[in-house]
Amino acid sequence: MKKIIHMSDLHVGYKDLGDRFLKIITNLKIQKREEAGDYVIIITGDLVENAHLQQDYSKVKEILNDLKRAGFDHVLLIPGNHDYGTGDYGDKKFVSIFKEVFYGDTKDYPRLDVIEGVAFLGLDSMAAELYWYDSLWAEGELGEEQLSRLQELLRTDEVRVCEKRVIYLHHHPFDARPFHELKDSRNLNNILTRAMAEGVSVDALLYGHNHAGEEHNGNWGIPHCYDAGSATQKSRPFYMRWLPWFKTNSSIREIDLGDDSAASSTILELI
Ligand SMILES: [Fe+2]
Repeated sequence: MKKIIHMSDLHVGYKDLGDRFLKIITNLKIQKREEAGDYVIIITGDLVENAHLQQDYSKVKEILNDLKRAGFDHVLLIPGNHDYGTGDYGDKKFVSIFKEVFYGDTKDYPRLDVIEGVAFLGLDSMAAELYWYDSLWAEGELGEEQLSRLQELLRTDEVRVCEKRVIYLHHHPFDARPFHELKDSRNLNNILTRAMAEGVSVDALLYGHNHAGEEHNGNWGIPHCYDAGSATQKSRPFYMRWLPWFKTNSSIREIDLGDDSAASSTILELI
């Protein structure tokens, strides 16, 4: 079973964060040169700072292609709020552009990849977050259509026969602060809880968005729950930085699903 390297919130295009991301990937290639094939890399959104600057999509794509050429064949990613616009204002046109650039197809979310007996299900938590009024906050919303497709997928033989299941999305499903938690978090919880009651384990839930980089292992009965922080350490606006609950951590994690201990993740020092 492959191990996972989880990172998030790269924000390429903001100040020197493109250079920092390149450095992270360069160091990853050096550190794991001999074992590249042992990993699945998961990036939980906010690849770029501003989707309107399409050269930053290209820059991320180029760096990820280089990672694949180094033997990291499995790089899974989903969009965050910044990947569909400015972060505050999303534009529906970027939904198809993102798919075209990063997947080369037009498939709906959840995106399913089965790799060595593990089902990876990637969600778009911007799917129902692209109306004008969504610019007021940025909590994310999966929407009923995507959630019902997720429920159906979890009931398919292709997913049920897998040894483990990993769900990954951009927005935070557990943040109790007002306006910081995925809007339809309760519906996602219900679907995953029902799946587990039907005998389908959910082994990891991976997300980003809040840049805090914390663990929430055991929530919803899921052993591995991680917020990957901001890999490039994009800091909060100056007026928020002094508040202790708006801290920023990098928290790039190596996760071993083959180890059933709830604490089986390691923070990687890549920058
Ligand atoms: Fe972010």
